[in-house]
Amino acid sequence: MIYFRFIRWRNLLSTGNIFTEIDLSGNKAVLIVGENGAGKSTILDALSFCLYGKPFRNINKGQLVNSINKKDMVVEVEFAVGKKEYRVTRGIKPTIFEIYCNDQLLDQDAESKDYQEMFEKQILKLNHKSFNQIVVLGSASFVPFMQLKTADRREIIEDLLDIEIFSKMNILLKDKIQQNKTDSVSTSYTVRSNKDKIELHESHIESLKQNNDELVDQKNTKIEEFKAKIVESNKVTATINTTIQRLNKSAQPREATEKKLSKLSLLHSRIDDKMQKIERDIVFFENHDNCPTCKQQIDSLFKTSTLKVKNKHREELNEGITKLGLEIGEIEELIKQALSVEKEISQHNVNYTQTLNQISNYHNWIESLKTEIEDLKGNTKQIDINSDEVTKLQKELEYNEKELTKLQTEKQVFDVAALLLKDTGIKTRIIKQYVPIMNKLINKYLAAMDFFVNFELNENFEEKIKSRFRDEFSYASFSEGEKMRIDLALLFTWRSIAKLRNSTSTNLLIMDEVFDSSLDGAGTEEFMKILNNLTQDTNTFIISHKGDQLADKFTNILKFEKHKNFSRMIT
Ligand SMILES: Nc1ncnc2c1ncn2[C@@H]1O[C@H](COP(=O)(O)OP(=O)(O)OP(=O)(O)O)[C@@H](O)[C@H]1O
Ligand SMILES: [Mg+2]
Repeated sequence: MIYFRFIRWRNLLSTGNIFTEIDLSGNKAVLIVGENGAGKSTILDALSFCLYGKPFRNINKGQLVNSINKKDMVVEVEFAVGKKEYRVTRGIKPTIFEIYCNDQLLDQDAESKDYQEMFEKQILKLNHKSFNQIVVLGSASFVPFMQLKTADRREIIEDLLDIEIFSKMNILLKDKIQQNKTDSVSTSYTVRSNKDKIELHESHIESLKQNNDELVDQKNTKIEEFKAKIVESNKVTATINTTIQRLNKSAQPREATEKKLSKLSLLHSRIDDKMQKIERDIVFFENHDNCPTCKQQIDSLFKTSTLKVKNKHREELNEGITKLGLEIGEIEELIKQALSVEKEISQHNVNYTQTLNQISNYHNWIESLKTEIEDLKGNTKQIDINSDEVTKLQKELEYNEKELTKLQTEKQVFDVAALLLKDTGIKTRIIKQYVPIMNKLINKYLAAMDFFVNFELNENFEEKIKSRFRDEFSYASFSEGEKMRIDLALLFTWRSIAKLRNSTSTNLLIMDEVFDSSLDGAGTEEFMKILNNLTQDTNTFIISHKGDQLADKFTNILKFEKHKNFSRMIT
């Protein structure tokens, strides 16, 4: 509840350098009268400028400064909110905007725009639009609630019920939902891509492993093959060995035999020589009777006996040669046999060496295959690199999945919040609670003015008005006086609601010629009835030209006049 105490102003419009001050406290109805241009409506501009920094009438701020003095325009308002006493000073030439709370100047570090916002939101708790609907009503700018569009009606009611905060929250929420959506899309994408990458790396690892295994298997098979060949070759060498040993055993020593052969051959050739000499001798004796040298005759006896001896000798020699020939033949056969065995052994030796070489080759190959296998087993570098990558990606995936879950949970919360913050959400619930109260109050005020219609607002602030005869009427159907009654009923309803909500209620009501046109005889009576009801806790200022009709009904009258080009107030 804002309890206004004083307002004072100077150099504002037609007011001069001396402050005009009005006591806003006390619960009374005050009538303000004066000629046209006397300065009555100036109080509206004073209030509006001081609280909202804007003139009430449709001019710009600069035009508020008195055109004669041209400077030192100042408006001051004093009011209380709870136990706090506020004083707001605002001026032009020089520019002043100061808010004092219990005589302490409130921090002005912020920009004046923010200072104003803080003032409206945290202290006044009433926006300009609502202020012009329930505190200050000017004939020039006041648009009765019933003539407002539904959006404006809603704004005023939301302000009144202090629920515009939900609209603001909804705007913030929309940003958050949008952000959540963007984040969710990008995080889902990252999760998907993490999964794909992991799959790729894993299948790569699998194929690397498989390749290695296959190669190792192939090499192991080769090793087994070589081992089998070694076993076979060993058998072969053993066989060759036995054969060689057997052959060696059966082989004749060739040296002695060859010596014997050469001796026999020598002997054979000597016997041959002897044989030839004997044959020559025999031929000589058979063919010669004289000695060719001495020419003497050869004794026939000698000749016969010599021939006899020689023939016998030849026979003996022949026998020996035949024997020797046989013996030589035998020996030569033996040598031939020995040579053939030797050849056979040497052939076997060659095979043996060859086989041994082959075995040694097999061993070498097995060794190198084993090395290759070891290399393959050790060659896991690629696999390790890929495994590291998989571990890294899995960590990333885990983090991103958590993020996504967070975002999804957040979205659920946002969805619920959005549902609550929609016009049909919390606000409607609150409005729904108040609609019956509003209707009750409206009808109560209408009845107080002896205007018996059934007025009903729904939660979309659309009206339904039923007359005595239960016909449905629209606001426009009514006479100006009847409209005034409805407007007043609504005005007082909003003020009562504000008081119920304890949000935007004030002790001040200023009406500037608002209902002048409809104040006929009966209307005036009813108007006064309501005013008197209201004065219990409200200070009401009525600016009217119908002063004559009203004057006797007010105990408090303020009169404005123009004196030497400046407006002044006389009580
Ligand atoms: N900057 C200004 N300097 C001096 N006088 C000004 C300035 N701007 C407006 N005025 C005059 O100040 C007066 C404002 O008076 P105001 O509007 O308060 O009159 P009022 O008593 O409400 O009159 P009405 O009954 O016709 O509504 C008018 O005479 C207007 O011409
Ligand atoms: Mg006026």
